[in-house]
Amino acid sequence: MSTDHSHLTSQEREKASVFHSWSAQSTINPLMVRDAKGVYVTDEDGTTYMDFSSQLVNVNIGHQHPAVVAAIKQQADLLCTIAPQHGNPARYRAAELILERSFDGAAKVFFTNGGTEAIEHAVRMARLHTGRRKVLAAYRSYHGATSTSINLTGDPRRWPNDDGSSGVLHFFGPFLYRSAYHATNEQEETARALENLERIISFEGPTAFAAIILETVPGTAGIMVPPPGFLKGVRELCDRYGIVYIADEVMCGFGRTGDWFAYQGQDVKPDLVAFAKGVNSGYVPLGGVVINEAISATFNDRVYPGGLTYSGHPLACAAAVAAIETMRDEKIVENARRIGDEVLRPRLLALQAKHRVIGDVRGLGVFFALELVSDRATKEPLAPYGASSPAMNAVIAACRDEGLLIFANFHRLHVVPPCNVTEAEAIEGLARLDRALEVADQYYTGAA
Ligand SMILES: Cc1ncc(COP(=O)(O)O)c(C=O)c1O
Repeated sequence: MSTDHSHLTSQEREKASVFHSWSAQSTINPLMVRDAKGVYVTDEDGTTYMDFSSQLVNVNIGHQHPAVVAAIKQQADLLCTIAPQHGNPARYRAAELILERSFDGAAKVFFTNGGTEAIEHAVRMARLHTGRRKVLAAYRSYHGATSTSINLTGDPRRWPNDDGSSGVLHFFGPFLYRSAYHATNEQEETARALENLERIISFEGPTAFAAIILETVPGTAGIMVPPPGFLKGVRELCDRYGIVYIADEVMCGFGRTGDWFAYQGQDVKPDLVAFAKGVNSGYVPLGGVVINEAISATFNDRVYPGGLTYSGHPLACAAAVAAIETMRDEKIVENARRIGDEVLRPRLLALQAKHRVIGDVRGLGVFFALELVSDRATKEPLAPYGASSPAMNAVIAACRDEGLLIFANFHRLHVVPPCNVTEAEAIEGLARLDRALEVADQYYTGAA
């Protein structure tokens, strides 16, 4: 087959030869990106957008941060790659910086190429450590695209990959706006979600579970900040039944919620933490697992049956060192918290007061979701669960027309700019969103 595509446009060439994720290939319409800087992304026609998606909620430090770019270049000059059985300062320095920011008793870091591998290995470690197989995860979750991770995932992307043999069970976590427990307040929602979780454990076999895995703040599934006491209750259940608590911090970690890790804001101590994305803002692919002392010790004299050619890749680790040091020095995590408290939350609530189509606003740090509904009374979503809709497509297109890239999932828009977005940029992005929401208002059919 001829691959001379030189007569095609750039986008046509992309579509002709690149197979895209999560897509029916004939329907894709990729934005052809030329370059980016900070919160801005410029396409090949020279149009500039504000990136309020941080791409896939991973560019926490903004695009092309000079300190991270320089560190990658420096490392490339010195040593581009090294086998995992050898040692390297970029790797141990990245591990040290991650452990310094982790829970008391965090012992070691196992590096992977991204989030889904981090989840795979966290679950493998938990299963080997406990000698058990079953794992509990939330329906409203996304944990990655490889075999174990996609089976842990609650959203409909699991369905075509799930033959029922993975040993994973799902439950409904707390989510008051669409309560699965008929709760009318957060205390009820927390108590009933925990009661249900314990009932599942006892009916499935109290000694059957290796792990409970939870995104500390579920991301793609809707940015539901857990109500007070819920994660502490999960920790207690894990302790009572000898279950490993795995925190998936792939999306919510590294500054996104205004803490280095979201579990720190929830005052809870996991056993294993899966991370990726914000660890180096995706400048070079990297993920990993923070391992507690007990699980780490399991593999002191016993071989850990897992590894990766690129575990702790020097370019990725050098990028992580620079990203973490820069986030520390430029107080980027503190900035995320302040922007959330002082700009995003109050201004998004003001947008909700103005646009009936916004049924709910929730989040923290630079991690906010808007639920778009056609009727506030019935909470009818603007797209069905697991699908898109003409209304949502129109809203997303309106954002694009306003020069705003936004993260959308089903009937939700997620406002997730880089953690170092400035106040002026945040205000400008929300003004663009405000104008785009006028398109969404046209689909509101409830009472005025
Ligand atoms: C919470 C969570 N876990 C795991 C993953 C998988 O990460 P990756 O796409 O790097 O494999 C993602 C990706 O979006 C995520 O949001």
